[in-house]
Amino acid sequence: MSNTKQTFQPNVEFQKTARIKSMDEYYALTKKAEDDYEGFWGDYAKEKITWKKPFDTVLNESNAPFYSWFEGGKLNVSEQCIDRHLDTRGSKTAILFEGDNGNKLEISYKDLHTNVNKFANLLKNFYGVKKGDRVVIYMPMIPEAAYAMLACARLGAIHSIVFGGFSAEALKDRIIDAQAKVVITADGAFRKGKAYMLKPVVDDALSSETPVEKVCVIQRNNEEVTWKEGRDYSYNEMINSESAICEAETMDSEDPLFLLYTSGSTGSPKGVQHNTAGYILWAQMTMEWVFDVKEDDVFWCTADVGWITGHTYIVYGPLAMGATTVMFEGVPTYPDAGRAWQMVEKHKITQFYTAPTAIRVLHKMGENEPSKYDLSSLKVLGTVGEPIDPPAWKWYYEEVGNSNCAIVDTYWQTETGGHIVSPLPGATPIKPACATFPLPGIIGEILDPETGKKVANGESGYMCITKPWPSMIRGVWGDPERFKKSYFGDVKKDGKPVYFTGDGANYDEDGYITITGRTDDVINVSGHRMGTAEVEAALAKDDNVAEVAVCGRPHDIKGESIFAYITLKTPCEDEAAKIKELNNIIKKEIGNIALCDNIVFVPGLPKTRSGKIMRRILRSIAKGEAITQDTSTLEDPTVVQQIEAIVKS
Ligand code: WTA
Repeated sequence: MSNTKQTFQPNVEFQKTARIKSMDEYYALTKKAEDDYEGFWGDYAKEKITWKKPFDTVLNESNAPFYSWFEGGKLNVSEQCIDRHLDTRGSKTAILFEGDNGNKLEISYKDLHTNVNKFANLLKNFYGVKKGDRVVIYMPMIPEAAYAMLACARLGAIHSIVFGGFSAEALKDRIIDAQAKVVITADGAFRKGKAYMLKPVVDDALSSETPVEKVCVIQRNNEEVTWKEGRDYSYNEMINSESAICEAETMDSEDPLFLLYTSGSTGSPKGVQHNTAGYILWAQMTMEWVFDVKEDDVFWCTADVGWITGHTYIVYGPLAMGATTVMFEGVPTYPDAGRAWQMVEKHKITQFYTAPTAIRVLHKMGENEPSKYDLSSLKVLGTVGEPIDPPAWKWYYEEVGNSNCAIVDTYWQTETGGHIVSPLPGATPIKPACATFPLPGIIGEILDPETGKKVANGESGYMCITKPWPSMIRGVWGDPERFKKSYFGDVKKDGKPVYFTGDGANYDEDGYITITGRTDDVINVSGHRMGTAEVEAALAKDDNVAEVAVCGRPHDIKGESIFAYITLKTPCEDEAAKIKELNNIIKKEIGNIALCDNIVFVPGLPKTRSGKIMRRILRSIAKGEAITQDTSTLEDPTVVQQIEAIVKS
């Protein structure tokens, strides 16, 4: 592989005050971690966490891959994120909220403390929530979503946020899998100048049997909703009578903090479990290292709290370090393509963190918009969730960052809790669309899946992490076997199973890591992870569908779009109507985020004689690539040409 990529040095002014100022400092830290792994992490855990009781051991590997960190330690994440800042930053803005209509609300650390304590008391006293209970949060992007998370953390309850774009069916499945007793939701919120609704989706999800006893409804848009007597109660009516002091539960380092469902290559979504100490440590440290947020900075991550990025980099990371975090209800392209830049100017945002899809949309809709605003406050620009293409990267660097800001292409996953491979803004010479190097303390290596050996520069392989790290996934809720099989089954190093991310990657000749995308059947649509198995299961619910196979296809804006091949039991007259019907099923079963851009009806699927669908062939056809795979082993090789002809037509 030739190194055609240009390298950009860190901004010299920025470098002077950066926490990690040079590659030498970076190498010194990585060496420290390699030489004394437990000492490295133990020291940071002592320095960064306000412990109620210090931990006894750093890492316990005796029950691998169920690793535990900081055993014996006691803490509470809501205290780490709020209480410990009160003396020094009580009146500093913790959450800077901007509504869809442009209204601004500044919530100080002191206000946050009051709001979270009241919410915790409400959950405890009225909803009967206690340590270990599961609470599902189905919320828009309003400050109460953060209060709800932190209130659960205060009580030691395990929250499971379900992204507001998921359908009633998907919400119900997650409620049942987690056995949640309470749902926190809102009537709805505002988007693009209009009210939209969430509560009816919750009503639908709870219309059949679930373990949910009560629902807490935040009234945000004040639209009419149905209230189910004895189940649904208004937060707004009850919150003021709660006391502003709620003692924080004392949690063990390894008590669960939250679940977040995510897609895998097989079966239903899995409840990724994160625990208390290790997660919060890394959330805070990556905020400090990767975004290098300073006391007066204003940090804006545009994700939704329904995804891991929103958990770690809107709520837990920024608040744990005592930063000001921006929360935005609306969309960055409304009322026009300058909205995001207008917000940067208005709030003097210093770090801006978004997904490549959003960058591509903002670029396409408003190539010259950034120049209309004063973006000089910006210091670091981040991207996350999917590979970024060099043109989008270049526009972000030059037009948004004025060629002055570092771009941190942060690579990580729901399962890793926080960043694992990323540039450091004051140290790493960056290359477009390149996640660069593992962060200190993360032993990230690209391995050859066959031999388990690290591949050489210029080669590609599987992105693995070969030592446990503090914020790693602790389990798949209710399914320890699936946890082992999903993450520790595919790659072994020196005969020992290591964590495999599911992503392919390569080293360039300088050893820089580029993530090339999933090696499994997971599609990344606009940075949202979709399992092909889930989409296939939804489509198979149609009575006339005989067989279905789904794959990803490159898409200019979304990165990937969903492409479905379907064989019908009986041919249909009106294909367009059938496609609409099938997408309606997806809407109902999963939500709009999983709609298929392409659905084609084919006479058969390419299968081996043993009945296995050859997905690689279908992926190639969807991409319009020539078929290079050997088709002679197929049960019916002619089906490939037939499908190609249909797709081309
Ligand atoms: C992909 C989002 C390339 C990857 C934080 C990963 C990326 C999946 C990057 C996780 C990046 C994330 N470059 N690909 N910088 N960041 N990915 O769990 O395929 O929603 O496995 O977490 O997104 O998606 P998840």
